[in-house]
Amino acid sequence: MTEWNPTLRQEVFAEAPDTEPERQRYFMEQCRILVEQRARETGHVPTACVVNFGCQMNAKDAEKLQGILEEAGFQETDSEEADLVLYNTCTVRENANLRVYGRLGVLNSMKKQNPEKIIALCGCMMQEETVVKKIQTSYRFVDLLFGTHNVFQLAELLYRRLTGERPVLDIWQGTDQVVEDLPAVRKYPFKSGVNIMFGCNNFCSYCIVPYVRGRERSREPEDILREIERLAADGVQEVMLLGQNVNSYGKTLAHPLSFAQLLERVEEVPGIRRIRFMTSHPKDLSEELIQVMAKSQKICRHLHLPLQSGSTRILRQMNRRYTKEQYLDLAARIQEAVPGIALTTDIIVGFPGETEEDFQETLDVVRRVRYDSAFTFLYSKRTGTPAAAMENQVPPEVAQDRLERLLAEVQRIAGELCGKDTGTRQEALVEGLDDHDPALVTGRLSNNRMVHFPGDASLIGRLVPVRLTEAKGFYYMGRMEE
Ligand code: 5AD
Ligand code: SF4
Repeated sequence: MTEWNPTLRQEVFAEAPDTEPERQRYFMEQCRILVEQRARETGHVPTACVVNFGCQMNAKDAEKLQGILEEAGFQETDSEEADLVLYNTCTVRENANLRVYGRLGVLNSMKKQNPEKIIALCGCMMQEETVVKKIQTSYRFVDLLFGTHNVFQLAELLYRRLTGERPVLDIWQGTDQVVEDLPAVRKYPFKSGVNIMFGCNNFCSYCIVPYVRGRERSREPEDILREIERLAADGVQEVMLLGQNVNSYGKTLAHPLSFAQLLERVEEVPGIRRIRFMTSHPKDLSEELIQVMAKSQKICRHLHLPLQSGSTRILRQMNRRYTKEQYLDLAARIQEAVPGIALTTDIIVGFPGETEEDFQETLDVVRRVRYDSAFTFLYSKRTGTPAAAMENQVPPEVAQDRLERLLAEVQRIAGELCGKDTGTRQEALVEGLDDHDPALVTGRLSNNRMVHFPGDASLIGRLVPVRLTEAKGFYYMGRMEE
C-alpha cells in the first residue's frame, strides 16, 4: 500500500516495546501513520471489512480485530470491496471451510481490479496445516495469514505487510498467553460477550476445536471483572460469558476459583442487569452452579447444554464422559431448581457406528427434556480427530433422513413450549426495530425467546416489562407495560 524504506522498517522493529499490549499499541500507531499517508495520496481513507464465520468466540475475536483495525486508521465497512478484507474463519464442520474457499474466489476477482487490496485470513481454519498448505499453493493472492493464538498481533503483522512483506504468515502452535487491554469495537452498545477462558481440553472424538484452539486457559477473575465494570459504565446491560467449556473455568489459575464463584462476583457488578454464558459441558456442570443459578437475580433463565447424542454407547465413542441417564438426571435437577428455565442443545446425527436404535435414544432424550430449541448437525469428518479414523461411517442418506426426523421432533416440541408463557408479564431487552414492521421493536426475553411489540428506536438497549399476548410458533407478540 505504500513505498517502504527498509532502514526505517528495521528502526521501527528495533524500537518496538517487548511487552504486551504496549508492543501492539506501538504497531497500531505505526500502521496509522502509513494508513494516513495513504489516505492523503489517494484522497480516501482506506477501508477494512472483517467477515466472521462460526461461533460466539469467533464473533468476539472479530470485534477485537475490528478494534485494532480502527486504531490502525482504517474505516470500517460491511462491503468486501474494501481495501482490506479479513476473514475470521471456522473449521468445526467441513461446510464452514467450503464457504471460505468459495468466497476467496470472489475476493480474487476483486483483487484483479484493485491489486492494492489486502486479503487476510485468520481463525480456526488457519491452525490446520493442510489448509495453510492449500492456501499457499492454490490461493497465492492471500497477503496475510495468522491463527487463533495471535489474534492480538494483528497490528504488528499488518505493519509487516504494509511495509512490503508478502505474504506474511505467522501461525502459533499454542500459547499460554492471554493479552489484556487491547481495543475492541462492540457490535451492540447494550450487550457484550466477555471471554472468560480460551481453548478446550475435552477432546470429544469428533471435534477439531481442541486442536485449533489449544489447551484450556482461564482469564484472571480480576481482569474479567474489570472488563465487565467498564462495560457497565459504558451502558452495557447484558453480558455473555464465553468459553468452550465454561464449567471448568478457573481450574488452571494460580488461585483456583469455580465458575459458580465467578458468576457470584459478576452478579455484584452494578449496572449489569443480565448474565448469560456459553458453553456448558454436562460432565462439568456442578450442583454449586445450579444453586447459584437458582438464587440469582441476574442469570438468565436459559441454559445451553449440548447433548450430542442420547445413546450411552455413542456418547462413550464420542468421549463425552456422561451417560444418557446422567444427562437426563442433570436436566431434571436444573429444571426443578430453576422453574421455567429454557434448555437448548446441540445434537449430532450420523456419528460413526450410529444405528437406528442409537438414534431412537436421541429422540427419546429430546422428548423427555423438551428443548426450547436445538442446533442439529450432520456429523462431519474432521481430519486428525479420532472419529475420522473410525469404521462404520454412516451413509449420507441415512444421516440426512435422521436429521430430518430429528428436526421435525425438535420443532414440534419447541412450538408447543413457545405458547406456555402467553399472558405472562416478562422483562425484555430491546435489541432493535423489527425487521418487517418499523412500528414494532424486537426484544429478547430472559429465556432467549424474542418478542415483538409496538415501540420506537428510543427503546433500543432498554430492559422493559412486556405482556406476552400471543405465541407465534417460535416467538411472541406483546405490548409494553409500565
Ligand atoms: N460434526 C458435526 N458437528 C460437530 N460439532 C462439533 N464438531 C462436529 C463435527 N465434527 C458440533 C457439536 C458442537 C457444536 C458447536 O458443533 O454439536 O456442540
Ligand atoms: Fe469440541 Fe467437545 Fe471441546 Fe465442545 S467440549 S469444543 S464439542 S471438544
